[in-house]
Amino acid sequence: MAPRMTDDIPIQDMPLRGPAAMFADRQADRYDLHSRHLNEQMVRVLRTIGYDVQFCRGSGSYLFDAAGVRYLDLLSGFGVFGVGRNHPALRDALKGVLDGELPNLVQLDVSTLAGILAERLLAHVPYLDKVFFANSGAEAVEGAIKFSRTATGRPELVFCDHAYHGLTNGALSLNGDAVFRDGFGPLLPDCIRVPFNDLAALEQALSSRKVAAFVVEPIQGKGVNMPADGYLQSAAELCRRHGTLFVADEIQTGLGRTGRFLAVEHWNVEPDMVLLSKALSGGHVPSSAVLMRRQIYEKMFDRMDRAVVHGSTFAKNDLAMAAGIATLDVIEQERLIENVARMGDRLIRELTALVPHYEMLHDVRGKGLMIGVEFGPPQSFALKASWNLLETANKGLFCQLITIPLFKDHKILCQVAGHASHTIKLIPAFVMTDKDCDWTVRAFDEVIAASHRVPGAVWSLGKTLIGNATRGRKANRVSSLESQGTTGT
Ligand SMILES: Cc1ncc(COP(=O)(O)O)c(C=O)c1O
Repeated sequence: MAPRMTDDIPIQDMPLRGPAAMFADRQADRYDLHSRHLNEQMVRVLRTIGYDVQFCRGSGSYLFDAAGVRYLDLLSGFGVFGVGRNHPALRDALKGVLDGELPNLVQLDVSTLAGILAERLLAHVPYLDKVFFANSGAEAVEGAIKFSRTATGRPELVFCDHAYHGLTNGALSLNGDAVFRDGFGPLLPDCIRVPFNDLAALEQALSSRKVAAFVVEPIQGKGVNMPADGYLQSAAELCRRHGTLFVADEIQTGLGRTGRFLAVEHWNVEPDMVLLSKALSGGHVPSSAVLMRRQIYEKMFDRMDRAVVHGSTFAKNDLAMAAGIATLDVIEQERLIENVARMGDRLIRELTALVPHYEMLHDVRGKGLMIGVEFGPPQSFALKASWNLLETANKGLFCQLITIPLFKDHKILCQVAGHASHTIKLIPAFVMTDKDCDWTVRAFDEVIAASHRVPGAVWSLGKTLIGNATRGRKANRVSSLESQGTTGT
């Protein structure tokens, strides 16, 4: 077979390059590489919404493009960079694992660092006793499904409308959004959907006494939907009464994101199982953890011959475990949870103060640094006509009129909170400063003000987006994602 060629140099003759040098050399080719070998649709999305600025560096809450321009990252890699991008303590921890030549993944031994990380995590959640480590959020959800079924001997699982628990087959069976589910069936049987915040529906589902677990995000990531007062406490109580495990998916909300270590602490709820991932390993190494009561854990691992009945090869690898320990160190030493609470209160207060000034800005909600900014139909005639045009072309398109100028004109990266959603979600790093809050509020104020002027630059963009959406539908090739921009998780 002929040797593979890159830029006409046979692979075997190429000098060895470090990742940073490779990144610099080939960054300009990245769209081509992805179009050829990875997800071409994603490249089309980015080209359509004009986000092709060649990010070259990340630090704390910021990204820097090829021209050295600084962007405020209110997306933090879908929430993984809780402690900020490239935190020095995380870099030191990861280098320390490599430089220390640790005996990683011996497998016929137990991992010291995994033991330490488990101890550190449980110190924050003292009513739980055991930890199971995995590699991703979805894999933690898969674990929770198996733990709860084997611990209860029951088959059914209850989840909520609009829930997002990941995209592997089991996790997808608990997804409350048709866009993700359609075309992948049959999914797991015995999964029952109930509306979020509907206790009567939950009680009805649990009353069969066949439900192993109720899996719920304390604050739903898709849409930033808040639990009604008393919902989570009553749901936990119903679960207890019906012998169902209450599983809090804190993959996005956990580790301080909402201004408490766990979001459930806001409502004094003690779940039977807590799922963590995203911010857990500082963004550098995939990792997740399932924290649970001893009785649940011991039903899975109940005999010596079942010591490996569930697990994953890389789950307790030293890089992930060291990154997890360093992340907890940073969160504790830099008092980041307090910072999240303070910055979150400030942002929610100041963004809420904009609501009476703008008829299409309907609501600002959230806890800590998980914030939803919701738009909705206007009252006035001129705006209504433009809104309707946009919404007819593609439901949820209005939010792109906000996120695109935020990016282009104000150098702020943020996402829409789901398909066909009118809510923009902010999940910045926990290290956000007062200056970053000023930057955010000023930018939102200016862009929302511009969106209320018809005609104007924002609505010219609207016309372009409508054109894209209509052309896309006609050609039946452009996904709704392409016309809506990336909506993320
Ligand atoms: C609440 C929640 N659960 C599960 C997941 C899935 O995590 P992963 O993408 O690591 O599989 C996500 C990801 O966004 C999430 O927000």
